[in-house]
Amino acid sequence: MTGKGGTGKTTVAASLALALAAEGRRVLLVEVEERQGIAQLFETEALPYEERRIASASGGGEVNALAIDAELAMLDYLEMFYKLGRAGRALRKLGAIDFATTVAPGIRDVLLTGKVCEAVRRKDKAGWPVYDAVVLDAPPTGRITRFLNVNDEVAGLARMGPIHNQAQAVMRVLKSPQTAIHLVTLLEEMPVQETMDGVAELRAAGLPVGAVIVNMVRPVLLGDADLARAAEDSGAVAAGKRRTAVAKALSQAGLGGARRGGVAERLVDPLLAQAHEHAQRVVLEREQRAAIAGLGLPVRELELLGDGVDLGGLYRLADSLRKQAVPGGTQAAGGDAAQGPYDGEDLYEAAYPDGAGPDTADEAAEAPEAPEAPEAPEAAQEGAAGPAADGDL
Ligand SMILES: Nc1ncnc2c1ncn2[C@@H]1O[C@H](COP(=O)(O)OP(=O)(O)O)[C@@H](O)[C@H]1O
Ligand SMILES: [Mg+2]
Repeated sequence: MTGKGGTGKTTVAASLALALAAEGRRVLLVEVEERQGIAQLFETEALPYEERRIASASGGGEVNALAIDAELAMLDYLEMFYKLGRAGRALRKLGAIDFATTVAPGIRDVLLTGKVCEAVRRKDKAGWPVYDAVVLDAPPTGRITRFLNVNDEVAGLARMGPIHNQAQAVMRVLKSPQTAIHLVTLLEEMPVQETMDGVAELRAAGLPVGAVIVNMVRPVLLGDADLARAAEDSGAVAAGKRRTAVAKALSQAGLGGARRGGVAERLVDPLLAQAHEHAQRVVLEREQRAAIAGLGLPVRELELLGDGVDLGGLYRLADSLRKQAVPGGTQAAGGDAAQGPYDGEDLYEAAYPDGAGPDTADEAAEAPEAPEAPEAPEAAQEGAAGPAADGDL
């Protein structure tokens, strides 16, 4: 999930995670900007660098959350490739990792995208994907293409070996139909322009664009004829007639006499001014909607919640997404076609072709209890009775 800052990227990512978790599915919601936005939204304490369950959905569904810490991800990475367990910790004491992750933002992005893709590809002991979907509260539109494409650069720099393989495996996930990059916008000129630029950049980079999610949509309060009348800058005569008509209507509604200087008359001008503003806004919003439609992408709309977004509001937005068909939640339903070309190309396998993986005791402990399954995971996934395995990002 990307979008211009402040448009509701974190809120919409969390709503999407909740929507995707319905009907007993398991979703991971990830944040990479070190702001603890997810914890705030779900009204829980700050998230450690560890996956933990933060919300439930219908049918036993659950949302787990992870706030990726770039420095700890760096240690993971060093351990994975160089088994620098203790040496890595020594480096950290020296501040070397801090240095590497802040001075070279590219390194940071490699670590963050690598961790996200690892979660996407992770399988349990029986070979099932651990998560049905992984939702990333990604960097804003202005940075998203570079962020997602950073592994292409790395793969070019390291021509072969485990780092090259890892970078390529990440790019394969990010460019596959398993991934969908959704863009949050408001019906305002700047965010819509940013959305259009972002979509063009993503498309040029060959990255899979998903849906545009228009957030904080306000209702239209007038019918078309009234809107047209309220929008026009009327001449003095028409304005006079209109003021009289409105004063009469207010008076009929019991708001005092319609005569000059009465309560009703004093309400008229502010009300007409508000109607004018409203009508102008609706006209502008229609222009923005048309621009968005021109992108040829699926569009979803989320209402502006009057009281802000609390936990209840989050579930309401999730519900709304479900009613509109959750983006990324339907196309792979009932099958695992989206994962077809990537079967057997697990990130860790790519890094460790000989099967000598890193010490993943922590992850093993986190994985759910899975029965020993002698048959190949691919065969198990053909069955209709298995868990939904869209694995959408
Ligand atoms: N649909 C909505 N209705 C009302 N308030 C919203 C909605 N979506 C987001 N907000 C509010 O807008 C602010 C910015 O949202 P946030 O998700 O933090 O944006 P971002 O991650 O893009 O910076 C927050 O205060 C949030 O509660
Ligand atoms: Mg945010």
